[in-house]
Amino acid sequence: RHDIAITPSILNADFGSLAAEVARIPSADLVHVDVMDNHFVPNLTFGPAMVESLARAAAQPLDCHLMIADPDRWAPAYVEAGGASVTFHVEAAAAPVRLAREIRAAGGRAGMALRPATPVEPYADLLAELDLLLVMTVEPGFGGQKFLDLCLPKVRRARQLADERGVELRLQVDGGVSVETIERCAEAGADTFVAGSAVYGADDPDTMVGELRALAES
Ligand code: DX5
Ligand code: ZN
Repeated sequence: RHDIAITPSILNADFGSLAAEVARIPSADLVHVDVMDNHFVPNLTFGPAMVESLARAAAQPLDCHLMIADPDRWAPAYVEAGGASVTFHVEAAAAPVRLAREIRAAGGRAGMALRPATPVEPYADLLAELDLLLVMTVEPGFGGQKFLDLCLPKVRRARQLADERGVELRLQVDGGVSVETIERCAEAGADTFVAGSAVYGADDPDTMVGELRALAES
């Protein structure tokens, strides 16, 4: 089992001062970068050039969450831009096995994400190709949404499927993760936690990272 990782999302940070915003969370393990294209989700954020600049500015490795159409075409560019971990949505991928292998071959850690209505069972035998499985706990697109408890059985199931196969992947949750909900996620088997508004809405974001970590480890 992996150690707990807290991966704050900068989606709710001040986009005009991203380097400074990232410097406010020194105890984060990775920085979660939400890439959105106005097609897969109705919101638009960063591209590879922004990821390249952030990779230079941040002390931590970047965890890129691609909420984009046609990740088969675009994902490898985010590894080349400096993304340590690159996660694509399986609903958007034409060839997820090939894509995971391409991300790994480019030197990145391969992640695959599931929207709330996407089951994990059909992908059980694909987990061995991944370094990370992201179970979304809101519909992707925006920060500050309410945590969906209905996703927790899938977290539990994903952990079970990975354990049965002896697969050592990180199990990440993203969406509505806060001091109210993180313990439920950890109890279900998640070890990697994205938190956006909980961290950047706090008076002291780094203290919040510590609080979330303590709750996840308890
Ligand atoms: C939502 C993004 C999340 C978002 C989470 O589509 O994938 O990473 O930033 O924000 P909160 O923690 O506010 O739900
Ligand atoms: Zn995300």
